[in-house]
Amino acid sequence: MNSQQFSAPHLGEIPSPKGFWSRDLVSVRDLAPPEVEAVLELAGLMKARPADFRGALAGKQLVMFFEKPSLRTRLTFETGMASLGGVSFFVDQTQSPLGAREKLSDVAHNLERWVDIIVLRTFGHATVEHMAEHANIPVVNALSDLEHPCQALADYFTLQEKFGDLKNVQLAYVGDGNNVAHSLLLACALLGSRIRLATPVGYGPDPQILADAQEIGQETGATVELFDDPSEAVRGVDAVYTDTWVSMGQEKESEQRIKIFAPYQVNEELMSQAAAHAVFMHCLPAYRGKEVTGGVIDSSRSVVFDQAESRLHVQKAILLLLLGGGIGRFPVRSAHA
Ligand code: CP
Ligand code: NVA
Repeated sequence: MNSQQFSAPHLGEIPSPKGFWSRDLVSVRDLAPPEVEAVLELAGLMKARPADFRGALAGKQLVMFFEKPSLRTRLTFETGMASLGGVSFFVDQTQSPLGAREKLSDVAHNLERWVDIIVLRTFGHATVEHMAEHANIPVVNALSDLEHPCQALADYFTLQEKFGDLKNVQLAYVGDGNNVAHSLLLACALLGSRIRLATPVGYGPDPQILADAQEIGQETGATVELFDDPSEAVRGVDAVYTDTWVSMGQEKESEQRIKIFAPYQVNEELMSQAAAHAVFMHCLPAYRGKEVTGGVIDSSRSVVFDQAESRLHVQKAILLLLLGGGIGRFPVRSAHA
């Protein structure tokens, strides 16, 4: 089945003229505000009526190269692609980085002859950027040291399910100003939502990403606030989010980071300062007793498995938007690229 033959119900409700969707998803910045909303809306439709989308990507092939381990990202891409009728291939790249055996541009020009989409998990963000630059097929960032776009889009889908209009939702991210924090900042900005970040001195977000989020926020009405003190940041918020203090590749800094981040632990005391209805969020994997206590992550306030489920629905929407299936592929990057 090709993209012309497939026509899912409801897709006409999603604005999707040619040129609407940027070709790659390297950064959340590759999307314009209506595109982020379209991803969340399509994900909602696909979650509600999965059977309507069976076969939407029949004949399409995805390849994943992962330089780091994964449970959620790998399996949600694989199961998502399978549920749409497509096929995926996984290449374990944990033993040698992409581009070590042969030039990245040569890899790109091979892949574009065989498959329809490339999904990369890398250390260097530049690896994803270079693959996107050279490959004549869509490239999706499945986590780099700088960003984790699929995660943040799934997290805002989860928040929308819980609270409705994202413009009224206030999220506090507590901990390391890392890849997940960066993508949350940008997604928040594009969606016109409200985010607070509490990070230790020296572990704040990338200044360029912060500046971009603030600039986008001026157009969308999003608010971005920075704090040193986690208690101030979480006061009255709807959701408290944290991530590991030691991201993949930072294991050598583990001892030092655990000391520095200790005051940023999300525990029962910190959660008690958020709104009474506040939920706890984490991208997972989580380290109980470090960035979060078992009492919080295993409580009824925790939505971490809803977030994990959302990865599936949101990535299916991303795949469908990038690969066609009635909406088509759009070769032009957005203004935020
Ligand atoms: N949250 C997330 O990306 O999980 P994995 O590392 O297991 O893919
Ligand atoms: N910040 C974490 C996210 C894991 C999904 C890491 O990069 O390891």
